[in-house]
Amino acid sequence: EAWYAGEIERTIITEQELRAKVAELGARVSADYADTADELLLVGVFKGAVMFMADFARALTVPVKMEFMALSSYGSSTTSSGTVRILKDIDSDVTGKHILVVEDIIDSGLTLSWLLKYLEGLRPASVSVVSMLRKPGVQRVDIPVKYVGFDIPNEFVVGYGLDYAERYRELPFIGVLNPEVYQ
Ligand code: PRP
Ligand code: MN
Ligand code: MG
Repeated sequence: EAWYAGEIERTIITEQELRAKVAELGARVSADYADTADELLLVGVFKGAVMFMADFARALTVPVKMEFMALSSYGSSTTSSGTVRILKDIDSDVTGKHILVVEDIIDSGLTLSWLLKYLEGLRPASVSVVSMLRKPGVQRVDIPVKYVGFDIPNEFVVGYGLDYAERYRELPFIGVLNPEVYQ
């Protein structure tokens, strides 16, 4: 029996479904950026996006460069100050570059909203977003997300990079956490 049995209530997106979606998103993005003269710059957001970033990059048929950012979240409280701190910034000059932010999930949207403003301030040629998951109806800010893998119900999900208290990131599927774990 799996170590997480009893902790994961049910699987909502299987490993196979994730793999198929990564291929689909990779093909779409590759087609959209095929004629882009300058290389696409993927910006992955630690830590949640690491699994998706690694898989997504390998599903592309256009050359890319990769950067990673680490942001301090606004905490687990439901009330947000809207303030995000950069713990690790982009290393290179992104002026005039085409940026694609790679995220695992858009929940309230506050992290991404802040990040997009920050990146736009660096005067890139363009900034788009690809997110494997999105919870519709819960965004507190309007965010233009060009590429979305799955819209999911407003439940606490883990796996494929997503954590609860830093756990479950390594699960190869997306599952709903048993409320007993966090109650
Ligand atoms: C999670 C997730 C997204 C963000 C989404 O990151 O990976 O980055 O929250 O939430 P939002 O739309 O409400 O801003 P978290 O801050 O938990 O850090 P982590 O990626 O290291 O888990
Ligand atoms: Mn994150
Ligand atoms: Mg987290």
